[in-house]
Amino acid sequence: MEAPAARYVPGEPGGVPSSSSASSASSPVASPASSVTSFEAVVQSPEQMLELGRRLAKLLRPGDLVMLNGELGAGKTTLTRGLGEGLGVRGAVTSPTFVIARVHPSLGEGPPLVHVDAYRLGGGLDEMEDLDLDVSLPDSVIVVEWGEGKVEELTDDRLHVVIHRAVGDTTDEVRQVTVTGLGERWASVELGVLSA
Ligand SMILES: Nc1ncnc2c1ncn2[C@@H]1O[C@H](COP(=O)(O)OP(=O)(O)OP(=O)(O)O)[C@@H](O)[C@H]1O
Ligand SMILES: [Mg+2]
Repeated sequence: MEAPAARYVPGEPGGVPSSSSASSASSPVASPASSVTSFEAVVQSPEQMLELGRRLAKLLRPGDLVMLNGELGAGKTTLTRGLGEGLGVRGAVTSPTFVIARVHPSLGEGPPLVHVDAYRLGGGLDEMEDLDLDVSLPDSVIVVEWGEGKVEELTDDRLHVVIHRAVGDTTDEVRQVTVTGLGERWASVELGVLSA
């Protein structure tokens, strides 16, 4: 009933830095230890952002860390709401601005979603561990807004999502989304399924 959530733009010129290329063949100096896969999409509306989140949820496993970056109002929480729907967790995913982290338990057998707003997380990871969340992080899917430079120590295996308002955008709802998988965990994951 809905239009496809996200248009896949493989290797759009100027879109992805060459180091983010999904193909290591074009990059003979690429280190196997730092394999990178990436996906780009143009997301036209909040509903498409939710749908991208639902699709992303299908790829996630307990222990995964997803970092969401992008300016205020880019759509990080909207994407997380779709993730929460896809994971089938309890409670509405809303902006956690007034709490640092919120735990959404699974309604089924899946992992809980831990939604973190690191904006006010001055002390980085230590502070997050001190939050004493009533959940085991390795058993959860952790989604962090504004986590750049703060939570990378958690794991080398990370999914980075960057949301930008598209350059030259005339309508306010168009977003450019880049999803990049870092580390062993994501090395063989086909992110192209996000466009399905
Ligand atoms: N394509 C789009 N994707 C996501 N949100 C969109 C889009 N177009 C418009 N919006 C609107 O932009 C706003 C995004 O808000 P959201 O809370 O998701 O952003 P955020 O990146 O989490 O912001 P913050 O940095 O304050 O946490 C919502 O009001 C949403 O309806
Ligand atoms: Mg937000």
